[in-house]
Amino acid sequence: MILPDQNCILVTGGAGFIGSAVIRHLIEKNVKKIVNVDALTYAGNLSTLSGQSQYDGYVFEQVNICDQDALRDVIKRHQPDAIMHLAAESHVDRSIDGPGLFIETNVKGTYNLLELVREESTSQKSGRRQIRFHHISTDEVYGSLGEQGLFVEDSPYQPNSPYSASKAASDHLVRAWGETFGVDIVVSNCSNNYGPYQYPEKLIPVVIHRALDEEPIPVYGKGDNVRDWLFVDDHARALVTVMQSGENGRTYNIGGDSERTNLEVVHGICNVLDQIRPREQGSYSSLIEFVTDRPGHDFRYAIDATRIKTELGWSAKETFESGLHETVSWYLNNQEWVVSVGGDGASSLRRGLGAG
Ligand SMILES: NC(=O)c1ccc[n+]([C@@H]2O[C@H](COP(=O)([O-])OP(=O)(O)OC[C@H]3O[C@@H](n4cnc5c(N)ncnc54)[C@H](O)[C@@H]3O)[C@@H](O)[C@H]2O)c1
Repeated sequence: MILPDQNCILVTGGAGFIGSAVIRHLIEKNVKKIVNVDALTYAGNLSTLSGQSQYDGYVFEQVNICDQDALRDVIKRHQPDAIMHLAAESHVDRSIDGPGLFIETNVKGTYNLLELVREESTSQKSGRRQIRFHHISTDEVYGSLGEQGLFVEDSPYQPNSPYSASKAASDHLVRAWGETFGVDIVVSNCSNNYGPYQYPEKLIPVVIHRALDEEPIPVYGKGDNVRDWLFVDDHARALVTVMQSGENGRTYNIGGDSERTNLEVVHGICNVLDQIRPREQGSYSSLIEFVTDRPGHDFRYAIDATRIKTELGWSAKETFESGLHETVSWYLNNQEWVVSVGGDGASSLRRGLGAG
């Protein structure tokens, strides 16, 4: 067990949606030193941590994980006890438009980190514990489910998009570095996240943005694709639990037992908006329109989170309804943030909205 008052945790991708939630949670737990390594791509914004940047033990390093020399320098200077690796290209539509960057960042970047952890661990024969490497991944590596069934940790890998294939590749590298080189690794695969500070190109923030701007809300296909939704703070808590208490070499699935079709999610957002920001023309749902589906659109993802619940004692606190209400309210109250980070899905060549 890593004790909060004596460790240094390095978080990659800490200026992104989930990484910033993890850093907020680590600060709540009074972790002594937190190093945020982020290249600040279009998806990374330090404003996600504006309230936390004054924390004494917080350090920001603007470094690209594809730059091994710069990464080595950061690891040598800060001597982390654990690395929580979240930095990634994460948007499925962008991976269809341009897969190369996903291979660079998600595969090569993860390889760089693993090599440095191996180097650092073998160079320290003095009895100091190894650097724990926690790889944060997605349920999309398991491919698509039919109407029934749930993903378990032993489900076969069947990624269908360049994004999920790049994450699957990185999961395999992490496992191999554990098995072959004895690196202390844990992997977690999580379902779709939602909550404050999600970059406004993903389903929930884009729907809110379009609805408030009185623009059409284009839903892929019939909107019947199913995702299992988890509030981001529940994920952040799960991640810190896995990093602290997960068994070396083990994988943990994380999910919120909240399956919803995309259309249900869009209607849910419209309902919350109808309550708290009613429009004269009637429900925001009238803005919904259906557009041609994207290629390789997985039908259903759903997680069996029994292992993390029974072995590590984690469970989600937020229901989908309460979390969605909180999320919509947050976006309404933080439109300045949305405008300051830019993006409303228009950066993608694809027109529709889907999740993950
Ligand atoms: N969002 C989800 O629903 C979800 C679900 C399961 C797993 N995940 C995984 O969680 C992680 C974080 O996802 P997110 O939604 O917060 O993503 P995000 O796109 O919001 O943030 C990614 C962060 O990584 C940084 N980054 C990207 N490329 C980098 C590079 N080469 N070097 C350094 N930093 C770089 C970005 O600047 C950004 O701050 C990803 O690994 C993703 O695969 C996400």
